[in-house]
Amino acid sequence: MKRIPASALALALMLLAASCGQKKEAPKSKYPVVDSLMSVMTLEEKIGQTVLFTSDWTVTGPSMRDNYLEDIRAGRCGSLLNAYTADFTREIQRVAVEQTRLGIPILFGYDVIHGFRTIFPINLGMSCSWDIPAIERSARIAAEEAAAAGLQWTYSPMCDISVEPRWGRISEGSGEDPYLGSLIAAAMVRGYQGDDLAADNTLIACVKHFAAYGAPQGGRDYNTVDMSERWLREFYLPPYKAAVEAGAVSVMASFNELDGVPAHANAHLMEEILRDEWGFDGFVVSDYTGILEMINHGYAADLSDAARLSMNAGLDMDMMSAAYMNHLKQLIESGEVSEATLDKAVRRILEAKAALGLFDDPYRYCDPEREKARTLTEENKAFARSFAAESMVLLKNDGILPLKKGEPVAVLGPLADSKDDLLGSWRGAGEVEAVPVSVLGAVKEVTPVAAGAGKVILVIGEPWSWSGEAASRSDIRIPEEQRELLRQLKKAGKKVAVVLMNGRPLDLSEESELADAILEAWYPGTMGGYAVADVLFGEVNPSGRLTATFPRRLGQVPVYHYMKNTGRPYVHPEAKYESRYLDVVNEPLYPFGYGLSYTSFDYSAIRLSADGFSGDGSLTASVTVTNTGSREGTETVQLYVRDLVGSVTRPVRQLKGFERVTLAPGESREVRFTLDRETLSFYRADMSYGPESGDFLLFIGSDAATPNSAAFTYEI
Ligand code: BGC
Repeated sequence: MKRIPASALALALMLLAASCGQKKEAPKSKYPVVDSLMSVMTLEEKIGQTVLFTSDWTVTGPSMRDNYLEDIRAGRCGSLLNAYTADFTREIQRVAVEQTRLGIPILFGYDVIHGFRTIFPINLGMSCSWDIPAIERSARIAAEEAAAAGLQWTYSPMCDISVEPRWGRISEGSGEDPYLGSLIAAAMVRGYQGDDLAADNTLIACVKHFAAYGAPQGGRDYNTVDMSERWLREFYLPPYKAAVEAGAVSVMASFNELDGVPAHANAHLMEEILRDEWGFDGFVVSDYTGILEMINHGYAADLSDAARLSMNAGLDMDMMSAAYMNHLKQLIESGEVSEATLDKAVRRILEAKAALGLFDDPYRYCDPEREKARTLTEENKAFARSFAAESMVLLKNDGILPLKKGEPVAVLGPLADSKDDLLGSWRGAGEVEAVPVSVLGAVKEVTPVAAGAGKVILVIGEPWSWSGEAASRSDIRIPEEQRELLRQLKKAGKKVAVVLMNGRPLDLSEESELADAILEAWYPGTMGGYAVADVLFGEVNPSGRLTATFPRRLGQVPVYHYMKNTGRPYVHPEAKYESRYLDVVNEPLYPFGYGLSYTSFDYSAIRLSADGFSGDGSLTASVTVTNTGSREGTETVQLYVRDLVGSVTRPVRQLKGFERVTLAPGESREVRFTLDRETLSFYRADMSYGPESGDFLLFIGSDAATPNSAAFTYEI
């Protein structure tokens, strides 16, 4: 078989095309190399580009199962996940480039979810910063570190809206809100992909899990999802769409079914919505064995059937099912899948490789010197520390916090001295050895830690493996032994500041009564120990705000801020026939948007520029926010809107804007929001998207429960 050196690849391919006497087709791609390749590839070589396998993993580092290397050598596997480091990826790339007929480089993918080597807070924590530029920067740093380790593709951002705290993967997303989730999704795509995909410090993003994976029945991972098209479009699709609009090059199908059709064979999602409506022109990859799983779903008779269904529904790349590898050829020969369909998939994948510059230099991401220089730098760690502190949410404070440096304090709890738990799930290539200190270690650096002290920092929550994939829980309280510890400490008369590490909204009804302070620290990452101490001792004034509602008890779930009013809203505490529980109030324990500070903020009444607006006009709503405390602090000023009467019912509140303002003690600032047609738009009764005339309320305040409101009208 003829082998072509990588350096001259593009030119050689064109010559090869000419020498093979191929018909000269008009180029279909903006990358000539893609057209050249397409014109000479055999059916087997094309199919090979649609196949994604994993390398094998051992405790000491990456290794490769022989057969996968053999698959690459035989042109049967065009992309690989779970292989990194400059040296290891170079070794594998050499096989693809130098030992296959066409020398098409491998695309290396990995789950770079909240950092690669420098680990940032888990995504749910990140979202609580409401700091979009910081979130983008974290993705930028992750891409720099990962791209220097031979990677070109991350399986992020995870854009799954969720109101399901039982679901362990709520930790991987940005919470319950589609507006905030969309801003975060787009920021992460920008951070990963930068301005130039061919630069040696960018990755292509992968928008996942498409779609509505965050709404599994009962909160059980991988479970059935069913919702109306209206609900899907209004609350679940916006973040995926925002990420696609930000230019994401790939999308991953989700494990769940939707309306009876598994996402992996769902042409409505992949073709009609993603490609036709949103204009997505990148490639769609399956989730891990997602094509194969359609047999269990009861949707495909066998693996060949599954391959046919997926390819015909617009799914371009098969991760780990070996369905395309083993069955596409026969399906094409029998006419059940057309070669034109396969060609589209292959072209999209090759275009991504071309955009990354892999055909110009397949080894451009494999430079050990760069890898060393860019990884876990002091700058990256400093940012990880401040970003982690920003993600933490102060849920309660009776005045015990901030603690004074030098004042003796006891640090207790099963997570107090754990470095491992700081990293959370999907920790990329983050290593415990790279974590400088646990919470205990960080506290010891600033104050004597004394076992018998009257003040206690109690670090409790969930071990990291209790959230993430396949980590659903039917009880969202922290473990009983830990709650008992808190009870005992309170009985002994201690002042207790609880520091929580966990990956989901929890039922904290007991802790919220007992503890003197509660700091939700999530899994804060490599520098999380220091970041917790920074907040506890007042180096940093906490500014995180919840992006997922915390229920009073699991029985309230789902509970979120954009619920509908119902025909019998709960307004009378004693009334029976209202939409309520007999044994608990409707209000959550901590609403969406909630979070305390070491200072306090006061809001003026809302001022409107007019009583209403019409058509493409706008309305300005403003408030004056004053820092009424004695130290500088950052407030997240939030705008919610309610459409009082619609052609379909509307939520009681929807987040429509926010602004973070940092104010010195005594300082006031006017914060303005502009409301326009888009602010009021939704899927109307006929499913057209736009506003309706009528009366509205807007709310501006520090969380979704704020009473600060004003009325206005809109005329279409
Ligand atoms: C997860 C994805 C992940 C993929 C590759 C799957 O199990 O659902 O989120 O990207 O594995 O690791």
